[in-house]
Amino acid sequence: MEGFLVSKTLFCACELGVFEQLHESQRPLSVSELAVSLGCSEDGTERLLNACVSLELLNANTDPHGTVVYSNTEMSSVFLTKSSPTSLFHSIEYSSRTIYLCWHYLNDAVREGKNQYEKAFGVNSKDLFEALYRSDEEMVKFMHLMNSIWNICGRDVVTAFDLSPFRCICDLGGDFFKDELPQADLYILARILHDWTDQRSVELLAKIYHSCRPGGGVLLVESLLYEDDSGPLTAQLYSLNMLVQTEGRERKASDYSRLLNAAGFTHVHIHHTGKIYDAILARK
Ligand SMILES: C[S@@+](CC[C@H](N)C(=O)[O-])C[C@H]1O[C@@H](n2cnc3c(N)ncnc32)[C@H](O)[C@@H]1O
Repeated sequence: MEGFLVSKTLFCACELGVFEQLHESQRPLSVSELAVSLGCSEDGTERLLNACVSLELLNANTDPHGTVVYSNTEMSSVFLTKSSPTSLFHSIEYSSRTIYLCWHYLNDAVREGKNQYEKAFGVNSKDLFEALYRSDEEMVKFMHLMNSIWNICGRDVVTAFDLSPFRCICDLGGDFFKDELPQADLYILARILHDWTDQRSVELLAKIYHSCRPGGGVLLVESLLYEDDSGPLTAQLYSLNMLVQTEGRERKASDYSRLLNAAGFTHVHIHHTGKIYDAILARK
């Protein structure tokens, strides 16, 4: 019931720069020092910092003068400071400024069975990515969101299969629904099909099949649902997120096999990484 209070506390501390400030100062800081450097009220800052201590995002210690001073925990240093190679700062910022606002209309999304861009941002979502990239700033924020997770999960999905037989690997740019696709041995579609309906997914996969060299294949990277619908919770929540934000959904391995087979691909191999994203390899 109160999970959103925790999320908002994390969003607020990140966006106001608490973890960054503590990282840059290279020494623990008191409430009043942090309040001044963040430009915030002392009372509000103290409540925020203490909630972060209970969430194990900050350490609190008393210095020799009897003043309570705060520092980042290891988890915050690794995931919440901007300069860390495994920083989730941009994902958190996008969750706060975009996803959180869309989820305000989750009831409507479930009722209507469609995304809520119009209500959340006043933009028409007929062309999904025109809505998502409604300004250069939004596009850059989305790119940061997309990139940040691969610093944590990328290795597991790219090492899930031996890709060494594929000499020419293609990451599709342009407009993959309209443009002619280049010939390649392997096409990588990471978090692409989950944006689209079954029909559009098969349309794209069939185009890829047509351009794919014989013996080549396609590597899908997606968050897989269990076959019996019992989880994982993260994939189920992501599927709701696909509802509020896109035209697609998260799917089971058998759903992706069906789409791949409908486009002509065979020999579908599934690799569950045990983390957020899984890998599926299919051959022409
Ligand atoms: C959910 S993001 C995944 C990005 C990246 N593959 C990853 O996993 O981090 C979906 C991507 O599809 C791209 N996209 C959407 N429609 C497209 C189209 N018609 N042609 C080419 N790319 C498109 C978007 O620009 C966005 O980069």
